[in-house]
Amino acid sequence: MYITPLEADEIGMPVAVITGGWSRERDRALLSGRTVADALTVMGVKAHVIDLADSREGLLEGLGDAAMAFLAIAGRGAEDGRLQGLLETLSVPYTGSGVLASAIGMNKIHAKTVVSAAGVCVPRGTRIDPKADADVEAVRVSQLLDLPVMIKPISEGGSIGVQVATTVDSVTFALEQLDVTDGEMMAEAFHRGRSVSVGVLEDALGAVHVLPPLEARTPNGVYSYAAKRGTAVCDYHCPARVSPITLADLEHQAVTAHRALGCHSYSRHDFVVGEDGSPWWLEVNTLPGLSKGGNLARMATVGGISYDLLLTHILRGADIDRRTRP
Ligand SMILES: Nc1ncnc2c1ncn2[C@@H]1O[C@H](COP(=O)(O)OP(=O)(O)O)[C@@H](O)[C@H]1O
Ligand SMILES: [Mg+2]
Repeated sequence: MYITPLEADEIGMPVAVITGGWSRERDRALLSGRTVADALTVMGVKAHVIDLADSREGLLEGLGDAAMAFLAIAGRGAEDGRLQGLLETLSVPYTGSGVLASAIGMNKIHAKTVVSAAGVCVPRGTRIDPKADADVEAVRVSQLLDLPVMIKPISEGGSIGVQVATTVDSVTFALEQLDVTDGEMMAEAFHRGRSVSVGVLEDALGAVHVLPPLEARTPNGVYSYAAKRGTAVCDYHCPARVSPITLADLEHQAVTAHRALGCHSYSRHDFVVGEDGSPWWLEVNTLPGLSKGGNLARMATVGGISYDLLLTHILRGADIDRRTRP
């Protein structure tokens, strides 16, 4: 993909970098926000940072003279269409996907329904009924999906609350320990394998470009909360060491999911590649982390796209008329 550096009319543009927020991914969002704002400033953009957790006045004032909003934020209240809807109502152009793709993408059950209808392979799963007895629900889940199962929040990120249960008792235990702050939970067939993420960039004409996939290799294959935060063993391999057939399959499924969900400009798709090489699509990240050492930046760099050019691409994605899009 060919991305040209910022043009003269883009330099000096006032851009509000929206970051922080109140989700459990706040600290990682702040890291992305700071890195993005610093890099944009060096590139000549007049970037200023807005923390979404600050006052309503702070947000409106910060957006005041901004030509656009650059979203370096994640999680509930920001990646789920709410912020996008607010910005549209205020007529502020913003980066990334629109309201509908963001809202569906944040909900792993709805997102899987949409992408599987388009032919993408997803693990079987079910919503956990928070009102049912944990032991009754554990038997239902285990019979429906076969053990082991993955239990995870429907609308979180960063592997928050993700756990593998191998016996009915451990499913019961996991359901008894559920943390209500994680919101609704789901259970999913656990596929032992390798965790691979695929970045998709879409240009102004709608052509898509797939970045080299990245494997996060951990001892049990699960890209856990601790692994993501560098407190558990995790080696990164980009490009992921997969066969040409698996690579083509990953690329095809990531692009199909990007289009089926109606994502715009960029997205990152998480898969587990089973021991037989078949990819299982787990989720989309419509606002993946944008720190310099983050997964999307790593993939872009290996694909020959510098961090500055990646930000340039994302920045230009704000420049569309959302009125005709979902
Ligand atoms: N059904 C599953 N089978 C195997 N591993 C899974 C499954 N679901 C999640 N994982 C592992 O947990 C990680 C986090 O899950 P994911 O669905 O991507 O949620 P999050 O939004 O928290 O990143 C994945 O990258 C993968 O390593
Ligand atoms: Mg993920």
